[in-house]
Amino acid sequence: MRKPMMAGNWKMHKTIAEAVAFAEAIKNRINGLVSIDRVVCPAYVALPAMKQALTGTDIALGAQDVHTQAQGAYTSCISAPMLQGLVDYVIVGHSETRQYLGVTDADVNQKAKIALAHGLKPIIAMGESLEQNEAGQTEAVCDRQIRAALDGITSAQMANVVIAYEPIWAIGTGKNATPEQAQAIIGGVVRKALADLYGEEIAQATRILYGGSMKPANCHELMVQPDIDGGLVGGASLDVESFTEMIEIAIQAKGL
Ligand code: PGA
Repeated sequence: MRKPMMAGNWKMHKTIAEAVAFAEAIKNRINGLVSIDRVVCPAYVALPAMKQALTGTDIALGAQDVHTQAQGAYTSCISAPMLQGLVDYVIVGHSETRQYLGVTDADVNQKAKIALAHGLKPIIAMGESLEQNEAGQTEAVCDRQIRAALDGITSAQMANVVIAYEPIWAIGTGKNATPEQAQAIIGGVVRKALADLYGEEIAQATRILYGGSMKPANCHELMVQPDIDGGLVGGASLDVESFTEMIEIAIQAKGL
């Protein structure tokens, strides 16, 4: 059985003080809901204070990105060794990093590999753009992205990999993929590619999240889809009430 996950991607929101206030407000609400993994991914600068604020809880921390290299002359960047001991998870390949920071499929692969090599669990984000969707290229794009991202990642390492399908046209737009659309890509393309690459057992054991305008109002209908194992949530994760609600909805939707 795959353990569901609800991960909040805060993007460039919340100061250190706001992040700590969120942690204080949410910890008694969602601590102990161990049937689902709960992860928050604040900005890098808030990670040490968040780690301290969440000590003694079962709420995990994630970073929003990591560099492809362990060290070097890469002004402004953060590497996997720097994140070691600070976070459990790291998002790689988020569409905003692909779009604004020029992250390529090959970079996503390098980031996932360096994360794994340093004991960090990558949440590999992927998904098609609006143009690709309208041109009927969704399946081909998603198949290419997932295979490229996992190139050279071993079967044993897959136990520490999480995938997030996030159609770009649904991110921050309020326009989510219908549960049927999301299920069709996650089950019919992403999990199918995993089965092809690693066999059915690993494909069935790997968690695949949906992301893109997930919120309390649509969380249940997405989470009841058999292949959707959780959410990578932007906007709706910034609010203590809505993030808590989504975790509760996910637990109920999966019958846990
Ligand atoms: P959104 O963002 O929930 O605000 O659409 C999701 C994401 O980008 O991970």
